[in-house]
Amino acid sequence: MSERTVFHYIDDVLSCEDVCLDDLANAYGTPLYVTSKKSLLESAGEFEKAFASLPHLTCYSVKANFNLSVIRTFVETGFGCDVNSGGELFRALNAGVSGGKIIFAGVGKRDDEIAYALDSGVLMLKVESLSELRAIDRVAADKGVVAPIALRINPNVTAETHPYITTGDSKEKFGIDQTGLEEAFTLLGSLDSVRLVCLDMHIGSQIFDPEYYVAATEVLLDVFETAKGLGFSVGYLDIGGGFPVTYDARKPATPITHFAEKLIPLLAPAGVMVIFEPGRFLVANASVLLSRILYKKRNHTGKRFFIIDAGMTELIRPALYQSHHEVLSVHRHEDSVIADVVGPVCESSDFFCRQRVVDDADEGELLAVLSSGAYAAVMSSNYNGRLRPAEVMVDGSKARLIRRRESYDQLIANELF
Ligand code: LLP
Repeated sequence: MSERTVFHYIDDVLSCEDVCLDDLANAYGTPLYVTSKKSLLESAGEFEKAFASLPHLTCYSVKANFNLSVIRTFVETGFGCDVNSGGELFRALNAGVSGGKIIFAGVGKRDDEIAYALDSGVLMLKVESLSELRAIDRVAADKGVVAPIALRINPNVTAETHPYITTGDSKEKFGIDQTGLEEAFTLLGSLDSVRLVCLDMHIGSQIFDPEYYVAATEVLLDVFETAKGLGFSVGYLDIGGGFPVTYDARKPATPITHFAEKLIPLLAPAGVMVIFEPGRFLVANASVLLSRILYKKRNHTGKRFFIIDAGMTELIRPALYQSHHEVLSVHRHEDSVIADVVGPVCESSDFFCRQRVVDDADEGELLAVLSSGAYAAVMSSNYNGRLRPAEVMVDGSKARLIRRRESYDQLIANELF
């Protein structure tokens, strides 16, 4: 899904679907996350079409964007959810997904979170260590229930992506690597309050080459055969998320169909239900971060800065992963300049782009930072006493507030003298 189809210029003013971004900034203020419902639905449709011939359940990975209205949009299309904490479980349930369509993941679950997941009747809890397997068994036994579990396998495949978001390498903390599997199966056989229902993997995020999925899936299928040989009846294989999107038109993402073409023939013969956990693919290009230019300045070398009212507190990805985000002027200009677009936070890493050709917009005008739907609002913070922005969802010619802007009172609400 390209953001250009829903974020487009109408009479030289950048718009989301049929709503011009100027009007949204005037109505709701800036900084503002603007999300297109059409884009969410189109991405979901594209994903489902690609994997249509495979019996599967798509569980939206809510960590990418946990706004209740975003989750609900996917839940209404029939998706389940992948959650990574008690807080995300709470969000998913409140967005209207039933427990039976929720996968509870996370490398370090506390007892209270395990109990909450069991009470919510989740489809399965992922297990990432033998100690965790024992903990889930203990909590389930206390409740007199049997916990459905997925073993997260670490396939030791190092997918090429930013090192902070590769997870399928056995030097990373995730999953149980092949050397630990025999012990895991033995332990599983000896515990009464857990039942193995799924084998799972997630090899990282923003992965362009389907071959990494193929290599990891082959490992998963080997483990599946082993599990069957040991008498376990495993009904699900979970391939995880990680499917790529285009942030930079010069580096277009591999189409989702290429992943499907490789994975479907590999997985279909297993005759099980396949689970996918896409996050970024569904939401990244559905939102922009709308911001106003506060000041423009030049330093002694002639270098130009556009200082805008959004910062790394609203989109930390450039600072954390050196990621590329397109920055567009809401009003088109004939002239362009080379500038750094930066925020008001007291860190040199507080930038959206450096030495980029941008429209020569004036102070007071609006800029849109594209591809701000995944890992943007969810990773926002109050650093420097910043207030989290409002969020708006556009549907055709209508816009709806889906999260209020934070207030100064909320900043100190939990503190006690
Ligand atoms: N499943 C599991 C177990 C995960 O850990 C993740 C992401 C996903 C699914 C969804 O992955 P996706 O389809 O969104 O790639 N903050 C980073 C990304 C961190 C991803 C963490 N796990 C970023 O902004 O690039």
